[in-house]
Amino acid sequence: MARLRLKSLFLLYFVASCGGLLYALSQLGQSCDCRTHLVAAEQRESELLSELRRVRRAARARDRVGAGRRDDDGGDDDGGDDDGRPLPTIYVVTPTYARLVQKAELTRLAHTLVLVPALHWVLVEDAEEPSALVRRLLEGSGLEHTQLHAATPSRMKLADSDPRWLKPRGVLQRNRGIAWLREHRAADTGAVVYFADDDNTYSLELFEEMRWTRGVSVWPVGLVGGLRFEGPVVVEGRVASFHTAWRPERPFPIDMAGFAVSLSLLVSHPQAAFDPDAARGDLESSLLVSLTSAEQLEPRARNCTEVLVWHTRTERPKMKQEEVLVKQGKGSNPAVEV
Ligand code: UGA
Ligand code: MN
Repeated sequence: MARLRLKSLFLLYFVASCGGLLYALSQLGQSCDCRTHLVAAEQRESELLSELRRVRRAARARDRVGAGRRDDDGGDDDGGDDDGRPLPTIYVVTPTYARLVQKAELTRLAHTLVLVPALHWVLVEDAEEPSALVRRLLEGSGLEHTQLHAATPSRMKLADSDPRWLKPRGVLQRNRGIAWLREHRAADTGAVVYFADDDNTYSLELFEEMRWTRGVSVWPVGLVGGLRFEGPVVVEGRVASFHTAWRPERPFPIDMAGFAVSLSLLVSHPQAAFDPDAARGDLESSLLVSLTSAEQLEPRARNCTEVLVWHTRTERPKMKQEEVLVKQGKGSNPAVEV
């Protein structure tokens, strides 16, 4: 009985195996619809490739931070070395003023800055008093920070109907930031100061480019001056001229976002400041002429061939419907901070 059952089990197994084998053979050489497999495989491949790129980028950024310099810049003009010295602090001085998009602008900028090591944000409000909105934003940012304020007198302020270029903006605020640094951080001799407007777009690489600035470092700025980019033209490692369309004869025809200054240079030139009465396009020069000369500028961003910061501007939000609802007593809840 047991033998019989074993025999039939064996037979059953034999038949099933043969069937499987025959089926497999019959499938050989037949066309199959492999597209779905291919699509999935390609998708996975592209996911893996972009992951690889991301890891490579992160590793490169880490190397740069660790070494404090880019090896591919050539020359020895950046003063950095590999001996493990602590990173120089970057003091980012940002003028800012109350308007509908202020919190959005500052949130975006804070989220960039929080990714940069050894950075201190000096946020200077164009206001009579520090605001709770800015204080909360700074406290929640996780950034090392200082909240300052300096109000632009109304005679120096743009009216709503004025064109944007009529009067320089953020001037007293930047000067307030410089004064604070001279007073409280003069001893931080390795530090660097960057004037970052609250509406521009900054790549993380930019900050590592400026970190080892000895005097004044420079690089191109995208989407400014009516051009794709403006920036210094470098010949044999030195700034020979400037690519700009607007009054090229200016001493330093560069945008605020296109340079950084060593703190010790600002400390050793106590009179150096931005001129609140500077003519259109002369604001940057008004500080730089007392600090440096074009020949002394330290080119960064691959000899000024890479754009790592963009002079973006935020559209002013239209409030037509809000005005309509306000008239009906149904405006957006003013207790909600925007
Ligand atoms: C351009 C330059 O990129 C600025 O660095 C320069 O200050 C400005 O021109 C100028 O000629 O004064 P633009 O985009 O036209 O910049 O200026 P905004 O972005 O409107 O203002 C520059 C900074 O000043 C911003 O951080 C802004 O928040 C601040 N600001 C503006 C004030 O603190 N108060 C104001 O009344 C207006
Ligand atoms: Mn701007």
